[in-house]
Amino acid sequence: MRISNSSLLLALSVSFTLGSAQRMEAANIEQGRRLALLYCARCHAIDKVSPSPLRIAPPFRSLHKRYPVETLEEALAEGIMTGHPSMPQFQFEPDQINDFIAFLKTLE
Ligand code: HEC
Repeated sequence: MRISNSSLLLALSVSFTLGSAQRMEAANIEQGRRLALLYCARCHAIDKVSPSPLRIAPPFRSLHKRYPVETLEEALAEGIMTGHPSMPQFQFEPDQINDFIAFLKTLE
């Protein structure tokens, strides 16, 4: 009984690791860019050179200078809150977040 329990646990953790590795590979940068374009680009610059359309919104390429962009994962899942009234609240699906973070990394 103990043995089968621990091998079940092992199997679970192996498949969890594989699962997240596959998710990382599946991150679709183009899809992430499209999300940014659709939801964020009217305020934030989403490329490497332009200023933000809304001056007070930080260009996405500058975010990684303030914190690792991975830390946005949680904020995006829970609905981003900046306390700035002109920024609407967003809530992304885990797949969308993966794509979005992968896209942000291309700007670093
Ligand atoms: C209507 C305009 C608007 C839209 C649309 C918008 N933002 Fe923002 N965003 C802002 C403004 C303004 C700030 C600066 C807030 C501040 O400094 O208080 C900001 C700040 C941020 C920050 C920095 C927060 C921090 O404290 O470092 C992040 C990250 C962010 N936005 C992500 C996004 C994402 C992701 C999207 C698209 C899903 C998005 N924003 C869409 C206006 C917008």
